[in-house]
Amino acid sequence: MEVIGFQDGFRGLVENRSVRLEGETLSGIITLGGTILGTSRDKPHKIPVGSSGYVDMVDVAVDNYKRHHLDALICLGGGGTQKNACRLMQHGLNIITLPKTIDNDVAGTDVTFGFDTAMTIAAEAIDRLHSTADSHHRVMLVEIMGHNAGWLALGAGLAGGADVILIPEIPYHLAAVAEALVHRNRKGKRFSIIAVAEGAISVEDLQAADPSQSNGKKNKKKESKGEDLADTQDECLQDVSARLATALQEHTGLETRVTALGHLQRGGTPTPSDRLLATQLGTRAAELVREQVFGVMVAVRGGACVPVPLEEVAGKCRTVPLDHPWIRSARMVGTCMGDDHPTSV
Ligand code: F6P
Repeated sequence: MEVIGFQDGFRGLVENRSVRLEGETLSGIITLGGTILGTSRDKPHKIPVGSSGYVDMVDVAVDNYKRHHLDALICLGGGGTQKNACRLMQHGLNIITLPKTIDNDVAGTDVTFGFDTAMTIAAEAIDRLHSTADSHHRVMLVEIMGHNAGWLALGAGLAGGADVILIPEIPYHLAAVAEALVHRNRKGKRFSIIAVAEGAISVEDLQAADPSQSNGKKNKKKESKGEDLADTQDECLQDVSARLATALQEHTGLETRVTALGHLQRGGTPTPSDRLLATQLGTRAAELVREQVFGVMVAVRGGACVPVPLEEVAGKCRTVPLDHPWIRSARMVGTCMGDDHPTSV
């Protein structure tokens, strides 16, 4: 097979910027984070031009695909990539996608590559925050990425032994979190670690945003009212940990500090588990090209790499199910999840 890569994601496809992927170019990249091709958040149907405008470049993307006489276009990414790839499929391109995001929130697959690396970094960060928390007798609040899904905060929080874990799927009560901190303090535990997902939201904020909302329905609202509203909500949620820390300090009198891990979680050397996953998904994609199976995402299901129809994946977000074993285990080891549920058995 002859392989070319488009630079900077869909932007490179519409601008016809490509490089040959062979030999030296590919040598040694398994140890690297990021992408040698570069990436962007651009969508073929909404390419930014000038300072505020957008232009639909889907036809140009299709033309460039044809110009290179491609047999298939392989798109690697999270929810946005799956959706845009599906659009191109509907315009006649032979598409195969791979689920790649630290958020682990792509529908149809058990796991995405990037997640394990980010979770490892976040868990290690929590380990390191324990030193200051313990020595200075503080509440340390660590903000973890994940967009509207709580996989990263939950996984890293549980692995790092966080005392409180707040995820978007379980809107939290400020009073429940404050009570958990005070309770620990009364028991003589003079520090606490809170792992908070960047998309976590309090019951109060959720109701203020839309009184008709109840537990865990934030994402549904975003889908029904469109992307612009979702963007506005994302902006409102940006200061989630700072506001929470201030409120907790006021309620508990316990000194509280915030660490937002930000893009640190998305960098550095991938874990062996992510390397294995990416290699297996990539080689399966190559097999599917040879077998001419298109319009699919290569998913992980029960340890196997299987093609699933892209239409079943695009436009969906896989959040943490409320009965997920990680949530159950977290509660059983006494972690406060921010709701009224009993925290230990
Ligand atoms: O989707 C991956 C992700 O890292 C999210 O966890 C986070 O919300 C977002 O990307 C950050 O995006 P950007 O790097 O464009 O600010």
